[in-house]
Amino acid sequence: MKKIVVLSGAGMSAESGMSTFRDAGGLWDKYPVEQVATPEGYRRNPELVIRFYNDRRKQLLEVKPNNGHKLLAEMETSFNVTVITQNVDNLHERAGSNHVIHLHGELTKVCSSYDPGNEQYVKELKPEEYEVKMGDLAADGSQLRPFIVWFGEAVPQIETAIRYTEKADVFVIIGTSMNVYPAAGLLNYVPRNAEIYLIDPKEVQIGSSRTIHVIQKGASEGVAELLSRLRE
Ligand code: OAD
Repeated sequence: MKKIVVLSGAGMSAESGMSTFRDAGGLWDKYPVEQVATPEGYRRNPELVIRFYNDRRKQLLEVKPNNGHKLLAEMETSFNVTVITQNVDNLHERAGSNHVIHLHGELTKVCSSYDPGNEQYVKELKPEEYEVKMGDLAADGSQLRPFIVWFGEAVPQIETAIRYTEKADVFVIIGTSMNVYPAAGLLNYVPRNAEIYLIDPKEVQIGSSRTIHVIQKGASEGVAELLSRLRE
């Protein structure tokens, strides 16, 4: 089976009603990124940061996977599909994708404030536990914090993501502005002979000399078109 590796970003979940970050009216317009997505912001005001991610987690309970997520999951019947996502939602999994690598963490999980990367203290929250409070503690006695990779923190899953990217026959970029590294740098690991597709309703600036097949559409329509092109 052909190996398809997908790199998805916030635009993948836009049609489900999740906010993107850098579009006009996106999350970083409303909440300064240095306040809610950096270790310094968390140290300064943990309550605000915990509340911000509680709100995101609540929003996730109210949305559903869109057709784009569903079609990617269905592709597993004809292709070997790996999804590398920058998204912290669980919509790929809920649509049925079996192999999802989360580069930037997962909203449904919490971890230790002292040792965020330590798997031992990572805990999956049940839907009814979506609201984390100040004083809720990890097993090491520290405040439970969102299991999110913030700016300036290491991205432990990048090595695994690189390994899959290096074996791709087809690499598909969906709904990401390709502004954030190391995720955007995965493009440099795509084998020479692999085909690259990009699905986004807007033009995305990519600093690469590679040939990229652009499908200028939203995620649902775009993945449908990708499928018909791959079957040609
Ligand atoms: P951005 O908000 O930077 O980019 C979203 C992209 O989705 C843009 O290129 C949009 O044009 C596109 N888009 C909008 N609607 C779409 C649709 N219906 N279908 C397909 N694409 C659509 O989000 P990311 O690139 O994902 O990190 O941002 C990367 C990281 O920066 C995030 O993971 C987050 C953020 O700061 C952390 O929080 C650590």
